[in-house]
Amino acid sequence: MALEFSDKSEDKFNEIVARYPDTHAALLPVLLLAQSEFGWVSVEVMDYVATRLNLNPAKVLSTATFYTMYNKQPVGKCHIQVCTTLSCALNRGYELLELFEDRLEINVGETTHDYGYTLSEVECLAACGTAPMFQVTWSDGEIEYFEDIDPDKIDGVLEKLNARLSDLPDTRRMH
Ligand code: FES
Repeated sequence: MALEFSDKSEDKFNEIVARYPDTHAALLPVLLLAQSEFGWVSVEVMDYVATRLNLNPAKVLSTATFYTMYNKQPVGKCHIQVCTTLSCALNRGYELLELFEDRLEINVGETTHDYGYTLSEVECLAACGTAPMFQVTWSDGEIEYFEDIDPDKIDGVLEKLNARLSDLPDTRRMH
């Protein structure tokens, strides 16, 4: 089945395109929009974005592969992105990351077998004043920040994350 934005994403797409001087400049935000709509940025999604923006597919491919924020394979319903830049590193950010690895039984960069969780290490997310922190991208496109996290309370944090998982779409089946 051919890919198509939902009505809501279509509105957002038009808003983004109107904001930029040309479609090339709109590529990064449109790729993010497509990622939130389709779960991950497959070659099919890149082709769709290229068509919608009237860009060369090779340009879209090289951009999507250059930036780590675009998932080139399916990720878990809950994509945990732990910041380990200076403020977070000095405030137990690495410990937080290791605790997630331990509890989820995966290494950084991996996804759990049931595609519930993906764990990533990321650079500063501009919440340095409330370090350590992590960002979650849910498979319905919502992005949530978890700030001022006490690594000793990781199990409570995971309980909260688990509570949302069952209602969310599996990114492997989104397109
Ligand atoms: S250093 Fe972690 S949010 Fe800036």
